[in-house]
Amino acid sequence: MTQTITAIDSFECPHGSGHMARCSTCAADAKCAGGDARKRWLNARAALSFAERFPRRYRDAHADHPTIVTWAEAYAADPVDLKSLLLVGPVGTGKTHQAYGAIRKAAACGRGITWQAVDFADFCAELRPSGKDPEGSLARYRDADLLLVDDLGAAKSSEWVEETTYRLINARYKDMRTTIFTTNLAPDRLASGLGDRIASRLVETCDLVPLLGSDRRRQA
Ligand SMILES: Nc1ncnc2c1ncn2[C@@H]1O[C@H](COP(=O)(O)OP(=O)(O)OP(=O)(O)O)[C@@H](O)[C@H]1O
Ligand SMILES: [Mg+2]
Repeated sequence: MTQTITAIDSFECPHGSGHMARCSTCAADAKCAGGDARKRWLNARAALSFAERFPRRYRDAHADHPTIVTWAEAYAADPVDLKSLLLVGPVGTGKTHQAYGAIRKAAACGRGITWQAVDFADFCAELRPSGKDPEGSLARYRDADLLLVDDLGAAKSSEWVEETTYRLINARYKDMRTTIFTTNLAPDRLASGLGDRIASRLVETCDLVPLLGSDRRRQA
């Protein structure tokens, strides 16, 4: 059975805690109650734990770019054979906002889709051989149904970075898993910034979405 994860703000607590899943009275009531009241509390808990996986800044992000909305709706309906997304543009044009908005729409269909999101620079740091569990981290990102790699290319380039990124991208390429990439690299700089093998796979598997305009942070 599929169950849509409802928006977090649909579960306001009547006891003033802000959210039903954060309220001990709501939890106690739900335990005693059966049927719809209990289901509603379980839905509230699912919505909260879903929302809490988003970075706070992007927790309320909703994709409003037409191509990205269409893509996310298509993913939610049927992710098989859907192309990955490469959101490209200068600093502050809303790439990360659109990417998290797309994940919300795509993964909230409740079909048990596993998703992960990572900043590329953090990915590189986690994968360092001296890290806690580099192979475990790689497996987590490699095997997620849907992965966001934010700011691809935003780590000091080296042979090791290129090789590690290639391992991730090539594994997902072979398994035909869907990824959302964001990057500041212009399309004609992908090969020089990431290496030709990675650029070639991105070109084949991604729909390119340019996000242009001025820096929203400076406008604010
Ligand atoms: N559609 C939108 N509606 C409201 N706020 C937005 C929207 N898009 C972006 N923002 C806000 O604008 C700021 C910049 O957006 P974001 O971080 O997504 O940019 P970016 O393109 O990822 O930047 P960078 O290249 O530096 O990573 C953020 O504060 C974000 O919350
Ligand atoms: Mg960003």
